[in-house]
Amino acid sequence: MASQFDARGRLRHLITLENVPRAQLVELLDRAESFLTPMGAYPARSDALAGRTVANLFFEPSTRTRASFELAARRLGADVLSLDVSMSSRAKGESLLDTIYTLQAMQVDVFVIRDAQSGVPAFICEHVAPHVAVLNAGESHLNHPTQGLLDVLTMRLHKGRLDDLVVTIAGDIQHSRVARSAHHALTTLGIRELRLVAPPALAPDPAEFAGAQLLDNIEAGVAGADVVMCLRIQRERMEVSRNPDPADFHREFGLTPERLALAKPDAIVMHPGPMNRDVEIAGSVADSAQSVITEQVTNGLAVRMAVMQTVLETIHG
Ligand code: NCD
Repeated sequence: MASQFDARGRLRHLITLENVPRAQLVELLDRAESFLTPMGAYPARSDALAGRTVANLFFEPSTRTRASFELAARRLGADVLSLDVSMSSRAKGESLLDTIYTLQAMQVDVFVIRDAQSGVPAFICEHVAPHVAVLNAGESHLNHPTQGLLDVLTMRLHKGRLDDLVVTIAGDIQHSRVARSAHHALTTLGIRELRLVAPPALAPDPAEFAGAQLLDNIEAGVAGADVVMCLRIQRERMEVSRNPDPADFHREFGLTPERLALAKPDAIVMHPGPMNRDVEIAGSVADSAQSVITEQVTNGLAVRMAVMQTVLETIHG
């Protein structure tokens, strides 16, 4: 498999956070932080990607992640092409690689890929030209590295040090690439405790989440936590017959104000979106002062700027 690192160990694609060393994670977070400006001020801009072309290929529906990558590329001065590929060439039978080669012939420098199938971003890495970078914007249930980075950045901005934190992720862990990428980053950076709360039917294989505690009780999961992240039920990744009833799910696992009161008083509430109000999270919790859900969106854009600039620096020096 093509590596996401160059011969000198620098990041030239971003496919997974699993093997990204601590120093590189911290560098990406620091760079992302440097792109944050106060709300109401102009967003950070540079011409670091001027003359470069970024193509967004989202083979799964997406609004926020696609918009985030698109604005990140524009704010760095790149030309951006966002293709609704779920509707186009692959549907017409063109092979994925022919789509990639066609866009590469139009001098695309960065491919941003989202796909429901495991292994697609890494497969594309193996076939692109040496000057082209591939960024994973969501791969099946496995990886969502920029989401992992933005989640960790949000925790760091609110909590300072990470090493003493108790982080709880609750919901459909089994099908969540968000939970996996958070686990990768938090494991490398080191926190006190990672708790994963899911009903048995949506619990992951523990081997995939080494070092984390698996729980099936939301009260126990939230008690004393510094960070509580809620995840929606990924209905599109399971058979209809396995879909939990939303009202039952809310009653048994939803983050209600009463349950949130069990966490530390200054706990933050996170959600990657799209959220289903009053299913995995009560609407009032999502709108509460403890919620940092919209900040995650802001931080995501900064993270994507940092990642794009980093891989292009690796490639072009
Ligand atoms: C997540 C994803 O696509 O994995 N959303 C996102 O990137 N904003 C989570 C989800 O779809 O539930």
